[in-house]
Amino acid sequence: MAADATILYSEDEIRRRVRDLGAAITDAYAGRSPVLVSVLKGGIVFLADLIREIRLPLRVDFMSISSYGEDAGGVVRILKDLDADVGGEDVLVVEDIIDTGLTLSYLLGTLRARRPASLEVCTLLDKSARRIPPLDVRYRGFDCPDVFVVGYGLDVDERFRNLPFILALDRPAQLLEDPGLLDGFLQVPPGPVA
Ligand code: IMP
Repeated sequence: MAADATILYSEDEIRRRVRDLGAAITDAYAGRSPVLVSVLKGGIVFLADLIREIRLPLRVDFMSISSYGEDAGGVVRILKDLDADVGGEDVLVVEDIIDTGLTLSYLLGTLRARRPASLEVCTLLDKSARRIPPLDVRYRGFDCPDVFVVGYGLDVDERFRNLPFILALDRPAQLLEDPGLLDGFLQVPPGPVA
């Protein structure tokens, strides 16, 4: 059975947007040394590419969280906290995707309580149509349609984070029944070196 999957954002499109975001962040934080905070695991691919497009002395730090489920209103348990105190720092939270925004809203609350000098958000994908709490998202790669997406860090059941592009899946539940459905996308040869 063929998977109902299409490439939503290609490698080239992602590379161009990441470059633009890096340039905008470089300008905005000129003369400062921001701390980029990434939420494991989905944000790692975007973070790795983004930091190489930022021409500033920056630091990276990681958090790992576990959701209490759909009804928890975004309340999460912190499984791994930041290594360093962010009090007085310019903190930029780097997210792979914001959906309802409930998780991020909770995280921003916990970070704000640590009194950073500034606190902003950079997300690659923003499903803005699904937003519940109002959020000020300063840097956004793509305004993403309300579809389930995988690749470039985003997973289904921990798989497909390594796809270099982003796929939209019509029926993600299909994958749980037949985990091999997208394997053809893993065979796409690497693109030419620019
Ligand atoms: P929110 O609290 O509703 O904004 O949920 C955000 C989290 O849901 C993200 O960090 C992802 O882990 C996950 N998520 C939301 N939409 C997708 C998707 O389309 N693909 C993969 N993960 C998603």
